[in-house]
Amino acid sequence: MSIRDSEAKVSKSPHKNNLNQSDELITIDLFSGSGAVTAALKEAGFQVAVALDNDATACKTYRLNHQEVDLRETDICAVSVKDLPRIPNISLLVVCAPCQPFSLQNQKRNKDPRSKLVLQSVKFITEFSPNLVFFENVPGLASSPEFRKLKRLLSPIGYKLTRVRLFDAADFGVPQRRKRCVVMASKSKSAIKLFNSFTPPGIKATVFDAIGKLPVLKSGEQDSQDALHKARQHKPIVLERLQHIPKDGGSRSSLPEHLQLDCHKRMGETQTYSDVYGRMKWNDVAPTLTTGCTDVTKGRFVHPDQNRAITLREAALLQGFPLKYKFSGNSSSIARQIGNAVPLGLVTQLAPLMKNMISLAKGDIS
Ligand SMILES: C[S@@+](CC[C@H](N)C(=O)[O-])C[C@H]1O[C@@H](n2cnc3c(N)ncnc32)[C@H](O)[C@@H]1O
Repeated sequence: MSIRDSEAKVSKSPHKNNLNQSDELITIDLFSGSGAVTAALKEAGFQVAVALDNDATACKTYRLNHQEVDLRETDICAVSVKDLPRIPNISLLVVCAPCQPFSLQNQKRNKDPRSKLVLQSVKFITEFSPNLVFFENVPGLASSPEFRKLKRLLSPIGYKLTRVRLFDAADFGVPQRRKRCVVMASKSKSAIKLFNSFTPPGIKATVFDAIGKLPVLKSGEQDSQDALHKARQHKPIVLERLQHIPKDGGSRSSLPEHLQLDCHKRMGETQTYSDVYGRMKWNDVAPTLTTGCTDVTKGRFVHPDQNRAITLREAALLQGFPLKYKFSGNSSSIARQIGNAVPLGLVTQLAPLMKNMISLAKGDIS
């Protein structure tokens, strides 16, 4: 879709664009994807005014759930901030830029042009002077040249970055191990100090808490009440392998010789990909959900005790999406939206801290 088409779509969108300027906690959500961050922020009392993403299907999902938001479906590089609505008091700017260019697993990361996208946030910060900027990405962001450039660009406009904090979503009540880098920008020294001394809440949730009560499904079956709770149809050889993986946390190392894949034999157990064909464990957190999170050949994505990959519904719940959240697109597109999402619980748990930082920046408290 061209930018012109997508802009035309935006102008027809049913957003209200009637912001009450006295409302507090007004937010712009950049790289909004399917709207996980928006959903968590709304739940915490923030009002998302504008969101932006260039993925047509993710934007469809976003619109289904957040009709009131002025969503710009466009390439961030093509946006002129002057064309956005005049909003005088932005409390929060969210910047969840694509993480693939900073992922240490990406062999081609140094040549990935998407690494520059995070720097597009500077034009929004300059124009809107938000009280707080929230950057979330993979830990590799902090050691990138783009991060050093970001610091250099923010300094002349009065913003300082906090310490880079490496959080595991599993310490924020998310039933998933997901190591993320969170860094904020503010003009307020006391806000920065507050973030630097923040301790993760240490709330724990398990795979069972998130998906333990869903209807049991065999490979190929679907819950008649829930289109997203649909088990993949596995090939007979895959089903045979799954039957041999011990329940509740077992791995492909238990496969008899004749069911082992040649490529896995060559890699051995100590190599990467040892999680492939692995089962999740009921009383533990799930592994990091990726865009291939419903594919048993892409990671530890087998159900703890059913012989099938987890369903899209299970993946969405492990990422913290509420049951009522609607998704648009085919199965692989929905898996991509879920795998790309920021776990909602991480944002919900950071929300009180962000509110305090915003108040400090506004001078409401000292
Ligand atoms: C990490 S995901 C964002 C997750 C999202 N914040 C959420 O809450 O689920 C990064 C997003 O950046 C979007 N993106 C990538 N390149 C872009 C570009 N040039 N302009 C706008 N959005 C872009 C992708 O479509 C993707 O949705």
